[in-house]
Order: sequence, then structure tokens, then C-alpha cells
Amino acid sequence: MADPAWRAVRGRVLTFLVPPLGAADGASYRYLADGLVLARDGRIAAVGEASPLLATLPADTPVDHYPDGLVLPGFIDPHIHFPQTQVIASYGAQLLEWLQKYTFVEEQRFADAAHAAEQAAFFFDELARNGTTTALAFCSVHPVSADAYFTEAERRGMGMLGGKVMMDRNAPPALTDTAQSGYDETKALIERWHGRGRQRVAITPRFAITSTPEQLAAAGALKREHPDLLVQTHLSENRAEIETVRRLFPEAAGYLDVYDRFGLTGERSLFGHCIHLTEAERRRMAETGSVAVFCPTSNLFIGSGLFDMGQAREAPAMRVAVATDVGGGTSFSMLRTLAEGYKVQQLLGRNWSALEAFHLATAGNAAALGLAGEIGTLEPGAFADLVVLDAHATPVMANRMARIDGNLEQELFVLMTLGDDRAVRATYAAGRLIHAAS
Ligand code: GUN
Ligand code: ZN
Repeated sequence: MADPAWRAVRGRVLTFLVPPLGAADGASYRYLADGLVLARDGRIAAVGEASPLLATLPADTPVDHYPDGLVLPGFIDPHIHFPQTQVIASYGAQLLEWLQKYTFVEEQRFADAAHAAEQAAFFFDELARNGTTTALAFCSVHPVSADAYFTEAERRGMGMLGGKVMMDRNAPPALTDTAQSGYDETKALIERWHGRGRQRVAITPRFAITSTPEQLAAAGALKREHPDLLVQTHLSENRAEIETVRRLFPEAAGYLDVYDRFGLTGERSLFGHCIHLTEAERRRMAETGSVAVFCPTSNLFIGSGLFDMGQAREAPAMRVAVATDVGGGTSFSMLRTLAEGYKVQQLLGRNWSALEAFHLATAGNAAALGLAGEIGTLEPGAFADLVVLDAHATPVMANRMARIDGNLEQELFVLMTLGDDRAVRATYAAGRLIHAAS
């Protein structure tokens, strides 16, 4: 009998070692043309050339072989909205109208545990189909939505992060908590879910417009009481949003300063969008080690603006991550997300290489979540969260691949430019197959 604790995945193995310093930085990654990732009890036990490693495997270890498949760490999506799967592709509005007209209507449905459970099943199926093995999600204001989210993640052995949104103003009454209840409910979620297996709770004030100063103070108190927790929110996405924040918080020096005053910046804080930051704000982001999350499909779809990755990396360099932001974002696919990210940089007269993009979607996003070494890498000891990609998945991709002469950077660029869920052959969470292309 095979020991179920062991599993091996064989293919063309790629993992990043350090952030790439350009379009062809061969020292930034490890690539094995015929490699093997060996998992034991959900973690990576060894990675190496297939033939010598195969000889050492315990008898009957299952080996899944993908001869042309590119085996990478599973993608990480550090900004996504669990209750927005059914508002993707809602027509014709920019941020504040889009929230009122579509999103705040849809999220009310997540007060119902049965609806939340059904949508959680769909949500995790979709992440797996797209090769995403970890996400940091906003749930709705209702604690049952977060319970549904973590319950389904745990059932599938996926390591997920998330929190119920705290929002106590400027939203329909059915979608608001209070400073106190938002605090209490988040506290209870932390007790129920934080550190239970792979699950992690994040403090989640939605954004400055939907929280009173009292609620932001409560979020700050949660952060002080639980310094290991992540904080996630939104920042400087849209001009009308920034103007509204200015009116609501006239005493603050700017939008970021609202969060800063309540102790919500720092190395464990992730700010979605950050498109229209001032130079002083970029400096403050850098000083505090806060993370700016680039959400290209959303920024284009809601018409919010162009996030300048090159500028973000110049001094004062901000930490950055890249994410889908479904349902403002239009795809669960991190490949589609990277493609749009590239186009945004082109519009700004910048480049964004495939190595940089794939690094960010794996090891870079892991570092942004404070989980470097745990996920986003194929180092021994990390969780065996894997995606197997196929750059020949569609006729157009196969036809294009005939011209790349085995060049890995070009293959990655084809994958991110032309790939989507069809390019995902298989996905593994903690060594378990959670998706296989039919
Ligand atoms: N700002 C506050 N809430 C949201 C949201 O749900 N989506 C986006 N894109 N921006 C927001
Ligand atoms: Zn968002």
C-alpha cells in the first residue's frame, strides 16, 4: 500500500530564490528541466533532479508526471472579495457608484449562511481552477460569511486568510456593524479561526469612507492586541473617493494619514490600489513597510487609474503585491491579472518582465503576507502548494510556442499574456490534488 503521507510531482520545476533584477536574471530562480517535488504530510520534503530523487522514494509513492508541465508554487492572491463573485462584470459605474449600486446590494445576501456556503464552494473551486492556492479575502460584514469561507478552506486543506469587513457608516443598514460589534465579531473570529490549521484572520476595516473614527480606533486596538494579524483595507483608488475621505477626516493630512493616525499602517498592513498616492504618502508607505497592492483588472474595469510599478520601486521604494480584486477585478486568473498588469505598465511607458511578474505572484506575494518560506516557494519545509502550467493549452499558445526556442522567460511571457484557467493543468494544496484539467 502506498503511504498517503507521500506524494511526488514530476515536471519542469521553477521556483524563485530572490526578486529578479531584470528581464533575464537567471540567478533569481531555480529551474529543473526534469525535476521532482516530493511532499510529505503536506509540506515539501525535497526538490531536485527527478532521476536521483526517484531512486530514494519510499515504495509505492504516487508520482504525478507532467512531462511538459511547468511546476511552480501555487499562485497567491492577496486582495480579493469573497462575496463579489456574482458582481463581476457589473456595467457602467466607477468606484463609489459601483459600490452602492451593485456591491452593497450583493453583499447583503451573505447574511444567509446557506448562500455563503454555496458561494464559498464556488469561490474555492474557481481559485483552484486558476492555480491559486492562498488568498487574502474580504468577506462581507456578516461573521457567517467568514465562517463559510474558512470552513470551506479548511475542508479543502487550503491555507487562507481573511476577515469580515468592518463598516459602520455610509452603507445600507443591513450591511453595517458598529465600532463595538465590529470589534467583538472580529475578536470572536480570531478565537474561532486564527491559527486553526492553516487559516488566518485579518483585521478588515473596508475603507475610511465606511468606518467612523471610533471604528478605525477599534481596528487599531485589534492590531495592538494581535500584532501578528494582517490588516487589509483600500487606499487611494479613485479621485472621488479621495475627496470624500478629505471631507470626512478634515483633520488628517491625507488619505493614508487617516489609517496612520489609528495605528493601521505597518509591515503587516496591505492597502489595495494605492493608485493616486502623493510623494509624501509613498514615503510614508515605505517608512512603515506597508504594502501597496496592484489590482490591474479592477483598476482598468472600474476606471480607477494606472498604478505605476516602476515608480513604486523607485526610492522611497514601497513594498508591492499583485492581486485580482474580484469582483471589481474581472478574473480569478492570476495569469490574466499579470497580463493586464503588463499592459498598464506599457501605458505608463514602463516594462514589467515575466520573471518579475511571476516572482510577484508567488514568492513576492508570500512575502507581502508575511509568509515567505511557508508558501510561494518550493523550498523544503514550505507547504506543497503547487500549480502545473501548460504553455501549449490553446491553439494560439501552441502556435506561438513554436517560436520561442526553449527560452523560459519567453514561455512565461506567453503564459501570462495568453494564458488563463485553460493553462492550468493541475493544482495541489498541501500535497493534495485539488484541481486537474479534464
Ligand atoms: N473600496 C471599498 N470597498 C471596495 C470594494 O469592494 N472593491 C473595490 N475595488 N474598492 C473598494
Ligand atoms: Zn478590493
